[in-house]
Amino acid sequence: MAKEIHTIGVLTSGGDAPGMNAAIRAVVRRAVTQGKKVKGIKKGYNGLLNEEIIDMDVTSVSDIIQRGGTILYTARCKEFVTPEGQQEGAKICRKHGIDGLIVIGGDGSFRGAQKLAGLGINTVGIPGTIDLDIACTEYTIGFDTAVNTAMEAIDKVRDTSTSHERCSIIEVMGRNAGYLALWCGIANGAEDILLPERYDYDEQKLIDNIISNRKKGKKHHIIVNAEGIGHSASMAKRIEAATGVETRATILGHMQRGGSPTCRDRVYASMMGAYAVDLLCAGKSNRVVAYRHGEYVDYDIDEALAMQKDISEYEFEISRTLSV
Ligand code: ADP
Ligand code: F6P
Repeated sequence: MAKEIHTIGVLTSGGDAPGMNAAIRAVVRRAVTQGKKVKGIKKGYNGLLNEEIIDMDVTSVSDIIQRGGTILYTARCKEFVTPEGQQEGAKICRKHGIDGLIVIGGDGSFRGAQKLAGLGINTVGIPGTIDLDIACTEYTIGFDTAVNTAMEAIDKVRDTSTSHERCSIIEVMGRNAGYLALWCGIANGAEDILLPERYDYDEQKLIDNIISNRKKGKKHHIIVNAEGIGHSASMAKRIEAATGVETRATILGHMQRGGSPTCRDRVYASMMGAYAVDLLCAGKSNRVVAYRHGEYVDYDIDEALAMQKDISEYEFEISRTLSV
């Protein structure tokens, strides 16, 4: 029979994402409702190794559902990638009575949770990243807010781009994944969308497209470029030289990670936070919460990390036909 969990720890790890606070709030309140104690671990695995651990109750998470960032702070921790770091982490969990741990983050953070599960701490991961690059789930906390933030910023760049009859290259985040770029490209009606998963590095095609659009009378030319391709500033220089069209590069950067979470991020984060607690209460370990085909589900972390994900070929094809 599965051992009963008494104390649940919660941490946020990797890049922050809007909605992480809503997830923390749900974890704390659902756990307390189930009669569990909750401990917040600050600054991800770093804070675990430094024992930055605080008691949390229902009031610790008051007035945070609408706030961006994470009240528990976040960090990346090299030491935790080593077996010694992981053993120390498990020891500290035991010292503080933490027998269940919820890790809100991305694939890297789940690898840490997987290692702790192997050392006897029951763990559950919640997908929190603006990149949408976690294969087992159709939704990751923070993507919706980030994509809306980027979309609004690109609309603004478009205004000035049109006024000056310029070409604008706008670089969005996403690490090695093109989901943010693809969604912005469609939502902003970009003339070109460059995705790491599909880009063939043929700049001449971009140049020809700009010249042909100019001839048709288009006043602006928006290129949404993914961070995974990068080099927007040098690309802008080459394009301007080849086309004679003034070209500017804008890198949106970390503003995409901030801001008050959208309704969608708050709701998914709340559901996933509560679901993670329910998994621990049911004696489950080494699981990742996911959203697929309209339902909240969970996967074994090993299985989840082995899954592959790619952008939709159909969405990519349509995005190109709509920008004629
Ligand atoms: P994300 O969780 O967003 O993918 P990272 O890849 O930076 O972000 O991972 C966050 C943290 O998770 C790392 O700083 C490290 O502490 C931990 N982590 C990453 N990979 C591993 C691993 N293979 N084993 C244990 N911990 C890991
Ligand atoms: O994973 C989220 C993310 O914002 C990526 O899109 C980006 O590549 C990375 O984190 C940036 O990391 P940092 O905040 O450490 O610069």
